[in-house]
Amino acid sequence: MDNRQEWWRGAVIYQIYPRSFMDTNGDGIGDLKGITRKLDYVASLGVDGVWLSPFFTSPMADFGYDVADYRNIDPIFGTLRDFDEMVSEMHKRGIKLIIDLVLNHSSEKHKWFEESRRNRTNAKTDWYVWADPKPDGSPPNNWISVFGGSAWEFDPARGQYYYHQFLKQQPDLNIRNMAVQDELLDTAKWWLDRGVDGFRMDALPHCIHDAQLRDNPPRPLPPPDGKTVIHPYSMQWHTYDKTQPEMIPFLKRFRALTDKYPDRMMVAEVNDDKTVETTISYTNGPEMLHTAYDFSLLVHEYSAAYIRKKVEEFFATPHDSWPSWALSNHDSIRVASRWAVNGKSDPAQAKMLLAMVTSLRGSSFVYQGEELGLTEAVIPPEKRQDPGIGSTGTGRDGCRTPMPWDAGKNGGFTTANECWLPVPPEHAQASVTAQERDKNSMLSFTRSFLKWRKGHPALLRGNLTFESVNENVLAFTRAGNGETLFCAFNLKPTPVTIPLESGWAPVEGHGLPSRAQGQSVELAGFGGFFGRKKT
Ligand code: BGC
Repeated sequence: MDNRQEWWRGAVIYQIYPRSFMDTNGDGIGDLKGITRKLDYVASLGVDGVWLSPFFTSPMADFGYDVADYRNIDPIFGTLRDFDEMVSEMHKRGIKLIIDLVLNHSSEKHKWFEESRRNRTNAKTDWYVWADPKPDGSPPNNWISVFGGSAWEFDPARGQYYYHQFLKQQPDLNIRNMAVQDELLDTAKWWLDRGVDGFRMDALPHCIHDAQLRDNPPRPLPPPDGKTVIHPYSMQWHTYDKTQPEMIPFLKRFRALTDKYPDRMMVAEVNDDKTVETTISYTNGPEMLHTAYDFSLLVHEYSAAYIRKKVEEFFATPHDSWPSWALSNHDSIRVASRWAVNGKSDPAQAKMLLAMVTSLRGSSFVYQGEELGLTEAVIPPEKRQDPGIGSTGTGRDGCRTPMPWDAGKNGGFTTANECWLPVPPEHAQASVTAQERDKNSMLSFTRSFLKWRKGHPALLRGNLTFESVNENVLAFTRAGNGETLFCAFNLKPTPVTIPLESGWAPVEGHGLPSRAQGQSVELAGFGGFFGRKKT
């Protein structure tokens, strides 16, 4: 049990990808005013906060994850005034705001990099990671970019390579340099003073590299599963390009800063060779970050045993870390397609998955459109935008298409003729307006389930213990705050009957189909059951 009452423990946080949420100025790209306009909608979902993906000044090589000015808003998205209005309207509705902090790299168009690349004697010489070529002119070591190719780019003016773990337009900041750390902390302070409630800290393990620039060792590829895209990045152990011990004191500086403000939180994005270990080291104890975003449910593998294993791995050792779970985000194939059984997306499954992920011990992140059960969009090659590779091998556009607000042109997202990415016809049919009219829709379910969940303290902060009932059913108890709940989710479309120990009474109102009879419960295909311990 966890009696700590911080708002983010057990919270449900809604991720907004600003390019695709709502366009108010008719350029086919979402903006901050669009978010403000739709805040009643966000509040109606019953979420506690919003994580807003980058909106800073950017040449948009990686759609905002390449920041050219950390303290301003890109004109595509609006102005600082629009930002202030949005924050104030969120707070009026009791919604917290977490913004993305991209610490690992800036844009090549940032004035720091423009200065740094000029020569080897300027004031920002060591603000980025520069290294001499090998005697044969090749890159300093074997490090590979997450997006493909060498992680080093030669710059003729300095006669040196610079390091970029993502695109070459995203040079890595040298966070070993304390002046860089000071500047990044000062930027965070600037946003805290402006009223944000916290940060989602992008690509954290990437932030510090090995000072000696040693080669990464080779890593044998796992046998192909026919779905996971094979990329040379997975053919190395990331021993030296990532996850260096110097991150810990850097993160402690962030915590000391946010602790000066009430109720702030930081969620780390952690994905590396030893994700659980790293997550715990970044979030364990009151001097570290508050929680970390877990990637283990963003993969293709889908079974009760797998989900159980991942949650158990997190809690396997004694520690004080608090996890954050997600099934979809702007980098991954939408869960309604990724975990579709026999290739068939089913709204019943979308409902069960939302209930399941928000019933695990931890906080949860719901990605815009997940509350509509949106599937992954198929983007024709000539319309593709994403320079990254993503888990599909064809980029991440399919999960980034605009929100379908109604069945009109472009799903009511924009008045422009064309959006930056097309709204697929099947999304327009699943629009917010259409789902609001249907009390059995995924949207209606999301609203009623999240409201119901808030009335169950065990689901917010209770302990979790798994139960083995059936291979297709994820079952566990949550206990805390005077309540003990038995939760069971049928991950498959076929109905299944599971035993129900005496002493459990069905809890009504969650909206997942199941029928308890005596000592057993029949779970419909993709159904779910919640039982309360009779006292
Ligand atoms: C973000 C990606 C981005 C990358 C580089 C990730 O973790 O979620 O969208 O491309 O960082 O900033």
